[in-house]
Amino acid sequence: MKNIATIILAAGEGTRMKSSLPKVLHNICGKPMLEYLIDNVKSIGIDKVIVIVGHKAGLVKKEICGIKCIKQSELLGTGDAVSRARSILLKDNKIDNALILYGDTPLLSQEIIKKLIEKHVSSNAGATLLTAQLKNPTGYGRIIRSSGKKIVKIVEELDASIYEKVIEEINVGVYCFNKRALFYGLEKIKPDNKKEEYYLTDAIEVLTKSNILVESVTTNDAEEFLGVNTRAELGKAELVMRKRILDRIMDGGVTIIDPNNTYIEHDAEIKKDTIIYPYTFIENNVKIGSNCSIGPFARLRPGTIIGDSVGIGNFVEIVRSSIGQETKIRHQCYIGDTVIGKNVNIGAGTIVANYDGKEKHKTVIEDNAFIGTGTILIAPVKVGKGAVTGAGSVVTRNKNVPAGKTVVGIPARVLNKRNNKT
Ligand code: UD1
Ligand code: CA
Repeated sequence: MKNIATIILAAGEGTRMKSSLPKVLHNICGKPMLEYLIDNVKSIGIDKVIVIVGHKAGLVKKEICGIKCIKQSELLGTGDAVSRARSILLKDNKIDNALILYGDTPLLSQEIIKKLIEKHVSSNAGATLLTAQLKNPTGYGRIIRSSGKKIVKIVEELDASIYEKVIEEINVGVYCFNKRALFYGLEKIKPDNKKEEYYLTDAIEVLTKSNILVESVTTNDAEEFLGVNTRAELGKAELVMRKRILDRIMDGGVTIIDPNNTYIEHDAEIKKDTIIYPYTFIENNVKIGSNCSIGPFARLRPGTIIGDSVGIGNFVEIVRSSIGQETKIRHQCYIGDTVIGKNVNIGAGTIVANYDGKEKHKTVIEDNAFIGTGTILIAPVKVGKGAVTGAGSVVTRNKNVPAGKTVVGIPARVLNKRNNKT
């Protein structure tokens, strides 16, 4: 895919989202929607990616650092947005075609993008677009075809006549253009529509009128091309993406007891024969080994690494911590910034106080330790191998519990032989 560049339009404000965050930065399963598009085109081997930014450009650039961004200073429409990439694409002799995507369609699959490009290249078209048949096409641009079924133009919802509004074939908003045809078309479009914008979609009519071939690929997977314009659509996209993530994880040999009530973000990794119980949240950057039991009602936050055969039970929250194999943390616990060894038992209600109001500190609990019910560990602190804390003990900062010893009380003190006698 060396001779193709991708232009992703992400300058719009997304007014209908009613948000102070640019639309394309809203998260879907823990990842901004714009990044799904960038990751997908990179995965199919397109290295040259240009993102058109505008509304809160600084925020968008910061989120996708390393990706070439071009500023569209005034939001004059999708056609104007693409024109911002004109000089950079025309200058680049290695690029013949431009794949154009809208930043608000994060569910597009790599397969359909590849299919579109293949059709475009094999038919040698000036432009190839992705269309779909929808029973309810409201809101989308409609595809107008000639009696010979050739594409004539695209009409936007606002500009469509009552006859055009009943057309069920819609413009998905994914295009592959020959770059010269693209800028030829864009030079000729005018903002003579209800929104008074330069529409990229109008470039299609310019091409067909000049007898330049316009081809199409049709998809019937309505989930793929959902455009996120409102919070309700963001919610729908979240559901679709969540299902995809859960399906991938179940495919890898993991049991999810109730997929409708399990929330796993896009890059969590879980190994086979682990069972996830309902109402569990597993966020990004979490790795879980095999044969574990997680939940119900567990929350595993970023930076959590869980070994094999670990039991994490209800109302347990873990962040930035690693848990060694065979360890059990079954009931109502908070574990933060902690390294826990193998075969440790963390009693019900144990809290790691990792934050002193200014800084976060580390806690270490070594292999085979037994942390009694309701223990509070004030970080930084270390509990040595095989050590025990009594129920309700408060282990204060830097008062490390020596290996093999038992501590009890507030503040926790080593229970020695003499104590044992009295
Ligand atoms: C667009 C298409 C429509 C298609 C639909 C599919 C046009 C004119 N219409 O409509 O045919 O059915 O997508 O979802 O293209 N943007 C800019 N700069 C601008 C304006 C928009 O970068 O000046 C970006 C937006 O950030 C957004 C994308 O372009 O990511 C699409 O714009 P949007 O306003 O959502 O277009 P739709 O009305 O959905
Ligand atoms: Ca849109």
